[in-house]
Amino acid sequence: MEHIADRHHSTETSHIPDALGAPGLRGVRGIPDVFDPRIYAAGIPHDRFRALRDHYPVARQNEDEVLGWPAGPGFWAVTRHADVVRVLKDAADFSSYLGATQIRDPDPADLPFIRRMMLNQDPPHHGRLRRLVSRAFTPARIDRFAVTARQRARELLAHARESGADQGREFDVVRAVTDDYALLNLTDLLGVPASDRGLLLAWTERVIAYQDPDEPPVLDADGRPVNPRSPAMLAEMFGYARELAAHKRAHPADDIISVLAASELRDAELEMFFFLLTVAGNDTVRSAAPGGLLALADHPAESRAWWAGQVAADPAVDELLRVHPPVLSFRRTATRDTELSGVPIAAGDKVVVFHASANYDERAFADPYRLDLTRTPNPHVSFGDGPHVCLGAHFARLQLRVLHEEMRESWQGLELAGPPRRLVSNFINGVKSLPVRVTWRS
Ligand code: HEM
Repeated sequence: MEHIADRHHSTETSHIPDALGAPGLRGVRGIPDVFDPRIYAAGIPHDRFRALRDHYPVARQNEDEVLGWPAGPGFWAVTRHADVVRVLKDAADFSSYLGATQIRDPDPADLPFIRRMMLNQDPPHHGRLRRLVSRAFTPARIDRFAVTARQRARELLAHARESGADQGREFDVVRAVTDDYALLNLTDLLGVPASDRGLLLAWTERVIAYQDPDEPPVLDADGRPVNPRSPAMLAEMFGYARELAAHKRAHPADDIISVLAASELRDAELEMFFFLLTVAGNDTVRSAAPGGLLALADHPAESRAWWAGQVAADPAVDELLRVHPPVLSFRRTATRDTELSGVPIAAGDKVVVFHASANYDERAFADPYRLDLTRTPNPHVSFGDGPHVCLGAHFARLQLRVLHEEMRESWQGLELAGPPRRLVSNFINGVKSLPVRVTWRS
């Protein structure tokens, strides 16, 4: 049985010369760098995170200029599970509002705008929007969605087979199945008409993939990259959200935007929430679906049990989310002088929690590099924790469970036909392509 840890240990020595040459491995005084987005194109840097957890659980990181983006003031990287949970739960000390939630500091001129999003608010203010929008995300509405998701998974799998992914032939499962699955489910839940789905994809890619060289940066008059979360870049999407809400007021349907359009949410709040959902609900599931297949392929014994139908889907989905956390990190800002694992943090310091490390913390998980598809309890932090814990977690789990069940109905097994191509990002653990071969049932 091969575990990530085994591969990891066996290749660690041979990694060293390569790693020393890698961008920014030696950040602050020999402390491994986990900031540089390029590192993540090779997968989660387990050796770096383990070194941080063991020796520098709250570690100073440089924020060097990278890929045309200017240098920043640096931050604290929080890598142990207990500390990550503390930061996420303690909004009084670690604010989402002060400097918002991305590692890169926003342009101060954009801050008031960015803070209109509930993601970038603190209690008690945050609670008002959270309560309002939660009403649209009722478990009953999400559960009703299972039928649509299952039908969609079947259609995408059948289409993949017809278009050349037949017995033993190599195909890219991201392009053929998982990207469309995530986007189409989200647009259906929101109530975005089929003809406008491409627009949503373009907008979210611009926001999430902006660190990736495949995504051409939008430059300002001085040739500097424009922050994709700035008002200028989002005007088109906001205009669309306004029109859609007006349309839903006139023609309400069983979808999220209809419910929100009829609520006491102000127009500006609704537009901002549309943006939040478009980004939060698409790239995360787009990452989780192929990421789960990759985790299975990396663990042949567990994967055989999965494809043979010997493992229940619900705990398996959560374990796949632990091993492949779609979100790598989130940022907070200290509101006052405090300390974390004995390290003094000053008011105003930037504090970044790494879900990608907490999910592998030996202090919280037995044998963390092992894929245990029946792991219970499984306190992974892939959906975060505290007041901002993912609002779409139920919807995400449902989509993933249905997709994995349908893949298992269709396929006897899956093997990688080549390495994945990953997103260059220190935020989203994206998989841009995953070449596979599958054995179809009958
Ligand atoms: C596997 C898929 C997903 C993962 C791993 C994920 C992860 C996360 C995480 C880590 C947060 C916390 C952010 C923070 O601490 O500041 C979050 C928040 C959020 N997520 Fe998700 N998410 C997923 C899918 C979705 C989906 C499908 C939707 C909606 C359709 C969604 C909507 C949201 C919203 C609205 C928030 C903000 C909550 C708040 O600020 O109170 N997410 N998500």
